[in-house]
Amino acid sequence: MLVASNRGPVSYEVGEDGSLRARRGGGGLVSGLSAIGPEAGALWVCSALSDGDREAVRRGAGEDGVRMLDIPADVHADAYNGIANSVLWFVHHMLYQTPLEPVFDAEFRRRWASYEAYNRAFAEALAEEAARGAAVLVQDYHLTLVPGLLRDLRPDLRIGHFSHTPWAPPEYFAMLPDDIARQVLRGMLGADRLGFLTRRWADAFTACCERFAGGLGDTRIGVHGLGADADFLRARSHEADVDERMAALREEIGEGRRTVVRVDRTELSKNIVRGLLAYRQLLDDRPEWRERVVHVAFAYPSRQDLAVYRDYTAEVQRLAEDINARYGTPGWRPVVLHVKDDFARSLAAYRLADVALVNPIRDGMNLVAKEVPVVSDAGCALVLSREAGAHEELGEDAITVNPYDVVDTARALHEALTMSPADRTDRTKRLVASATALPPARWFLDQLEALRGAAASH
Ligand code: G6P
Repeated sequence: MLVASNRGPVSYEVGEDGSLRARRGGGGLVSGLSAIGPEAGALWVCSALSDGDREAVRRGAGEDGVRMLDIPADVHADAYNGIANSVLWFVHHMLYQTPLEPVFDAEFRRRWASYEAYNRAFAEALAEEAARGAAVLVQDYHLTLVPGLLRDLRPDLRIGHFSHTPWAPPEYFAMLPDDIARQVLRGMLGADRLGFLTRRWADAFTACCERFAGGLGDTRIGVHGLGADADFLRARSHEADVDERMAALREEIGEGRRTVVRVDRTELSKNIVRGLLAYRQLLDDRPEWRERVVHVAFAYPSRQDLAVYRDYTAEVQRLAEDINARYGTPGWRPVVLHVKDDFARSLAAYRLADVALVNPIRDGMNLVAKEVPVVSDAGCALVLSREAGAHEELGEDAITVNPYDVVDTARALHEALTMSPADRTDRTKRLVASATALPPARWFLDQLEALRGAAASH
């Protein structure tokens, strides 16, 4: 079995003494695969991302079971930043400000050629490494062309692809140049089986194929809603470093106050700015909450090579400061914002959460929505965007919001803060049951089994 993804399970740093240090990556896919264990004999093909990674490739010092591809840095940057993050991510999350963008010009075509080369490098490496009839599981929008390229090179393989993002509806996908739209879909359709996080994203993909590629052909479609890893989260969130972070956070929050918690990588799709606007609206509409609530917002850096991401991060910080300046009192900071990634502190915030705010513009799943109810000490009320994939599974026990409507989100925050303890406990129980229905290892094995079944018929 082989797995292919842009970001791999490990990354390297060169220490001051010149030695290489490996760091394990996080995320559902990594824990899913580690749960299967090394005896599965899986190979993970990924891209070298840092200088340390490239150095590890040069020294041939990679970990067992991982092959990093040393794709030229400029080609990788064009493919990853120029296409995957700036075009495909924007299309699937519907993020363009369409009066001015996108513009598919000659520069776009140049970057697209890098995206093709980067996908080709993966396909060639997989073709070289795979044993006869092996199963290959390709991940995400970075690698949409790999299934088709790999099928041409190795028709004997069983090829699966999984999308961790939403898929754009056909009207939005139609923004892409026609030949590019067809190339992406045909690349994907080279797989025996395509996996999505929700029925909604699977249906959007099918609709795109009907409109631009003459249908799905023999490719099967499956839905696998990745769940939270409850055992890991519960154990990890009771370690000493998390207790320390809780004490520090309690200090920042102040005695006896309620908390509205959010934890995100600062991606444009996470809607952190409107979350802050909704919180400000709450303080305006319901002054009784002043001094009695704190918005704990962790917004960790993501994709800082892109100017729009840097600008967005700056806007989050500006707005948080603005709210603190306008409403804060000597004993009360209305927004506690942290931007430095700290997993133990995230878990501490989960434990303290009275309300979890998860309001993305559009999101493949959003695991935070599943994790907070599992970890929170006293149960939490979940304010959840109807545009998050998680809403398909958690919607009934969450308070649903339209992510663009900050007045209604403010109302939802008030409803969440005033939920009766009995209701909150009942809902949390049901949220936890839905959130943990498909733990990472099971999620991964289900896909593998389904692929074995589907491949026979391609
Ligand atoms: C999000 C998406 C994943 C994607 C990842 C890439 O978490 O849900 O689908 O693979 O971002 O993030 P990166 O930091 O590698 O750009």
